[in-house]
Amino acid sequence: MASKPASLPEYLSSFGRNRGRSLRPYQQKLVDELLPKLHCHPEAASKEIVKILRLAPQAPLSPIALEIGFGAGEHLLAQARHQPDTLWIGCEPFINGVAKCLAGVDRDGLSNIRLYTRDARELIDALPDACIDSAFILFPDPWPKLRHQKRRLVNHDTLARLARIHKPGGRLLLATDHEDYALWMFEHLRATPHYQWLGECRADWQTPPADWTETKYQRKTSAEGRPPVFLECSRRPA
Ligand SMILES: C[S@@+](CC[C@H](N)C(=O)[O-])C[C@H]1O[C@@H](n2cnc3c(N)ncnc32)[C@H](O)[C@@H]1O
Repeated sequence: MASKPASLPEYLSSFGRNRGRSLRPYQQKLVDELLPKLHCHPEAASKEIVKILRLAPQAPLSPIALEIGFGAGEHLLAQARHQPDTLWIGCEPFINGVAKCLAGVDRDGLSNIRLYTRDARELIDALPDACIDSAFILFPDPWPKLRHQKRRLVNHDTLARLARIHKPGGRLLLATDHEDYALWMFEHLRATPHYQWLGECRADWQTPPADWTETKYQRKTSAEGRPPVFLECSRRPA
């Protein structure tokens, strides 16, 4: 088991703005009324997860999945609909995206989603060891300029933090449309003791996983000539 990386320096912000245009009245109502019911305070989330783990395997929501940077929540919502017995925790600081995700939760009456609207790493650090089954980091901000690359979310620090809360053998899916970030991800996966890329050839990173849901962001970048790269990985046993 990876030890909690307490001695690492504070991380740099990996996201840009956390607010766009004003929310419409319905979206604001969801943020005011629905979000507090789904929002996980790190401590409360930790308690809920510990409770679920104690009850497992009888607990109805024993598998736990984490999506970091869910944008407007298209992938998160689709997964929560298809896997109603999994507890889906989504992290996203951009409130306009959170509001869109809340609209989906409201429309579909989903009860297996929890949201965290700040930096995912705060929540990760509060969760117990080896508690999540799968994690998704899909199209993280590419920070293309050399001087900004230190802001990239996928780095050795994030992988170590995530590894601590990931069950051995658990799934990690990384995706990006940015060629340089894809190489960066490959290099970090090659160097990390915590995760193993499960692919073997070009087709493996070109082909979306069977449970894949295309997001608006992906449609836009594919139309602009930047096809996605999918890196299916597994948490190595300790
Ligand atoms: C380029 S967008 C992609 C959104 C979504 N995954 C999609 O495919 O449509 C990247 C998202 O990651 C979020 N993000 C970046 N760093 C984050 C962090 N540390 N914790 C949570 N979310 C983060 C950003 O706010 C942004 O919405």
